[in-house]
Amino acid sequence: APSLAYDANNQLCVDGVSVADLAREHGTPLFIYSKATMLRALQAYQQGFAGRNALICFAMKANSTLAVLQVFAQAGCGFDIVSGGELERALAAGADPARIIFSGVGKKRSEMRQALQAGIGCFNVESINELHVLNEVAVELGCQAPISIRVNPNVDARTHPYISTGLKGNKFGVAHEEALGAYQLAASLPGLQVVGIDCHIGSQITQPGPYLDAMQRMLDLVQLIESHGIPLPHFDFGGGLGITYADETPPAANDLWKELLAEMDARGMGDRQLLIEPGRSLVGNAGICVAEVLFLKHAEAKNFCIVDAAMNDLPRPAMYEAYHQIVPVKQAQADAAATTYDVVGPVCESGDWLGRDRALSVQQGDLLAVLSAGAYCMSMSSTYNSRGRAAEVLIADGKAHLVAERETVSAIYARERLL
Ligand code: LLP
Repeated sequence: APSLAYDANNQLCVDGVSVADLAREHGTPLFIYSKATMLRALQAYQQGFAGRNALICFAMKANSTLAVLQVFAQAGCGFDIVSGGELERALAAGADPARIIFSGVGKKRSEMRQALQAGIGCFNVESINELHVLNEVAVELGCQAPISIRVNPNVDARTHPYISTGLKGNKFGVAHEEALGAYQLAASLPGLQVVGIDCHIGSQITQPGPYLDAMQRMLDLVQLIESHGIPLPHFDFGGGLGITYADETPPAANDLWKELLAEMDARGMGDRQLLIEPGRSLVGNAGICVAEVLFLKHAEAKNFCIVDAAMNDLPRPAMYEAYHQIVPVKQAQADAAATTYDVVGPVCESGDWLGRDRALSVQQGDLLAVLSAGAYCMSMSSTYNSRGRAAEVLIADGKAHLVAERETVSAIYARERLL
C-alpha cells in the first residue's frame, strides 16, 4: 500500500495520519517519515538476498536522524559511516558495531582510533597512504584493523557528475590497475587484516547496465587477487540505486540483485558474504517536507510561490538542480485554475528554490508537500540565515512520533562566545 494518499476529505495523509494535522501541531517546515515505507524498501533488498549470506549497511549520510537509524538497526541492518560523528550517532541509535563499515577518503587518525576501539566490522580503505596510517594506528593500539580496499572499477554510472564516483579522475578509491599491489601491501602490514573488497560507482543510478559492468570488473579482480593467495571473505558492492523523483524508472532492488547474483553464481562466487551500502533507495521516498505558503508574488517575468522551507532545509535543488515533486496538502478541485509558479524559500539567494515552473492552485496560508525528501535533505540541512533546523516526525504503526524537535535559534548559537 502506498504510504502517501489523499483521504475522503482531499487531505494528504502519511500512513493514514493527516499531514495538515501534524503541521498544525508541530509547525512548518516539517519533515514527515514513514517507517512502513522504509521497511518496504528494505524488504525489496531482503527478498533479493533471500537464502544468501548478505548484510545491508544503510549509508546513513542519506538520513542520520536517530529514530530512522533505530528503525534500520532493529531490522538487522548495519551502517555505512563516513565520520567519527556518524559512528557516535549510529551507536547512540543502537547499532551493532560489528555491522558498521567505515568509508571515506579522508579518515583522521582520531577517527580510526575511535572506530577501532568501538570494534567496527570493516574499514573501506581508499588509498595506499591510508593503508599505512591505519596500520600505524592499529599497531599503536595493539590490534588489527579489518579492512577492505575500495576499488574504482572505472565504469560510468550515467548519473549527475557530482554524484558519479566510479570513474577515473575522481577522488574515490584505488584504481583498478593498482588494486592487486595495494592488497599485497595490505596483506604484508601487521596492523591490518584483509576481510574483503569494496566498490561504489555513484548515486541515483537508474539503469542496471553500470552495475552489471562494475560487477564483471570486480569479480575479475576478486579472482586475480585470490589467485595471488589473498582471500577476500566479503564482497561489498556499494550503494547507489536510484529512486523515482519524477519519471525515472530504476530497477526494483530484488530484480537488480537477481541479475547481479546470477553473475556471481555463474562464476561460482554466489556464496561469498555480500555487503551493500544503500542510502537513498531505503529512505528517499519515505519522507516529505511540509511547508506553508507565505506569499504569492506575481512579478513581471514569473510568478513566485514563497514558502517557509528553504535551501537550508532542502539543499538538493540549489546544489544539483534536483527535481522534487511538490503537491498541495489539500488536494485542489479537479476544475480549479492553476498558475505556474517557481516555488522558492525565504533565504537571500537566487539559488534558493525548491521547484521551478510548477502548476499549482494555491493561496497564501496553504500547505505544500515536497516529496522524495527522505534522503539527503535533513542530513544536508544547515542553519544558514540563522534558520533553525526543521522538526521531524516519524509515523510508525499508524502513530506519529516527534523524533526531532525544531532547532531553536539559541541552540544554534549556544556554542559561540562573545569577545
Ligand atoms: N557508499 C558510499 C561509499 C557512498 O559514497 C554513498 C553515497 C553511498 C554508499 C550511498 O549511496 P546511495 O545509495 O544513497 O546512492 N547528496 C547527493 C548524493 C551523494 C551520495 C554520496 N555517496 C544527493 O543528494 O543526490
